[in-house]
Formats: sequence, C-alpha cells, structure tokens
Amino acid sequence: MKHLLKLADMTQDDILSVLNLADQLKYETKHDIAHPLLRGKTLGMIFTKSSTRTRVSFEVGMYQLGGQALFLSSNDLQLGRGEPIKDTARVLSTYLSGIMIRTFRQSDVEDLARYGSIPIINGLTDYCHPCQVLADLMTIREVKGSFDNLKVCFVGDGNNMANSLIVGCITMGMRVAIACPHGYEPDAQLVAWGKAQGMLEVTPDVLRAAEGADVVYTDVWASMGQEGEADLRKAAFAGYQVNDEVMRRANSGAMVLHCLPAHRGEEITESVLEAHADEIFREAENRLHAQKAVMVKLMA
Ligand code: CP
Ligand code: NVA
Repeated sequence: MKHLLKLADMTQDDILSVLNLADQLKYETKHDIAHPLLRGKTLGMIFTKSSTRTRVSFEVGMYQLGGQALFLSSNDLQLGRGEPIKDTARVLSTYLSGIMIRTFRQSDVEDLARYGSIPIINGLTDYCHPCQVLADLMTIREVKGSFDNLKVCFVGDGNNMANSLIVGCITMGMRVAIACPHGYEPDAQLVAWGKAQGMLEVTPDVLRAAEGADVVYTDVWASMGQEGEADLRKAAFAGYQVNDEVMRRANSGAMVLHCLPAHRGEEITESVLEAHADEIFREAENRLHAQKAVMVKLMA
C-alpha cells in the first residue's frame, strides 16, 4: 500500500492489517503507552472543504505518533490561485512525509499521487471517503465482534459515503443494501461490482433495505458543495430518514452509524441518534485510531 486514494485499492488483508494496528494503537493511546512511530515526520493536510473530525483527528494523531501536521487551507495555498496540482505535488513532496487531502474531484487526489513522490491519503472527495469507512469497519468489529453474516443498510444519497461503504463492507464480507431516491444512486461501476458478487441491493424502498439489517447508516441529504441544492434535496430525500419505524425493520440490537455532522429531523431523528449515541461517537473517536494506523502503514 503506497497511498490511500480509495478503498478499492485495498485487499481484505490490507484492511484487516490496518484495523488490527488501529486496535493496538487505540489500546496504547487509552493506556498512555507512547508510540512515536512517526517521529520526525510531517503530514501536510490540504483542505478545500470544511472539517471537524478529519482535521482534528489527523492533527492529533500525527502528534501522538511523534510527528507533526500542517493545516493547509487551499485558499491560502497557491493552489487556490490556480497553481496546478501536479506542480504542488512535486514541490510539497520535497518538504513533507505525506499529504492528506480533502477536496472535490477524485482526479485531483489521484494526480497528487501520480506527480508527487510521497504517500497521499484521501480525506474525502465527492466520490469517496475511505478514512471514514475504515473507522466504521473498526467500530462495527468492536461492537459486533466480527463481520460474519452482517447486513449493512445505508439510507440516503448514493455519493461518497455510500460508495466507500459498498466497497469496504463487501470487501470484508458483509451484505449491503442502499436505499436512495431514483437519480441519487451510487457510482454505477461500484453498483455493478457489488451486484455481480450477489452482495448488494440498491432500492428506493427504505423499509426493504432496512429489513434484517445489523448496521443502519445514514449521511446528510446535501453534502459539502451542494448547499445550493438544499431545497431540491429536501424534497427528493423526504422519507429517506432513519427513524423508529426503520429501526423496527432492522434486526433487534442493530447498531446505528453516522459519519457526522448530523442533521436531526432530516436524515435521522433526534431519538434514534441519541439512542445510538454511544455507537456514533465511538465511530467518530475511531477516526483517530484508524487514521493513525493508515499513517503508520504508509509513512513509517
Ligand atoms: N465525518 C467527517 O469526515 O467529518 P468532518 O467533515 O468533520 O471531517
Ligand atoms: N457526504 C458528506 C460526508 C461528510 C463527512 C459530505 O460530503 O459532505
């Protein structure tokens, strides 16, 4: 593994090895056992979108690993004034040990990797969110004990979260059902891949997708960059909500995950979110541990 550009580049063994290291680093963090595995290393963090979890967990994670992180807002970089990504990649490769980037186009992340000479980590694009799903997988395994015979239901927009969940969950052997309105389906190639294995269903019917689910997942109706479509999306996604009725269709003891930030009353009700807050905030915490494992694998 040279980069983390998308989960489709990882085998089941690659993912397991990240999750196992993440568990170990979590244990060491909780028990104040120092693990300076990236001493002297510097991570550049390029953001062209907002972030709470990704920014803080990468920065704190790098500190806990004995290295340091630089927050690089794209507005302040020459990148924001039109310097090409391929030049930025070659320059930053001479200063940094790795780059985490959150941006719009997946091709920009791929170009950083192509033209740079250091590990690149995708901190979210419109296409996918691999770091989030590694933390999600870690959380599912912690709560459920294993991935065996689990069904994951995702309710909402078929964009970055749905795409990465399809790849990550199916790679680990879980069945996936996506409930989304027509016109908001996940990436067609990923849908074909999942269906070819008999592991994926995509349906407009939320209750059907939730039937027998062990993990119920949702995400905002309007993602970053889609603020202008908020009203259109409120209409399109009305009914695509994780609520008590949906949870009654899921298996008893089903867990709920949300990448956050959450919009209560839209994609999830207050009561479901609060009833499953332990799982959802454990998931947020696990961003730290999972990303530390990714950084150690790529940069140590
Ligand atoms: N889930 C997630 O990526 O959160 P942030 O946007 O706060 O980084
Ligand atoms: N789909 C959301 C995920 C946020 C973590 C977005 O792209 O804004």
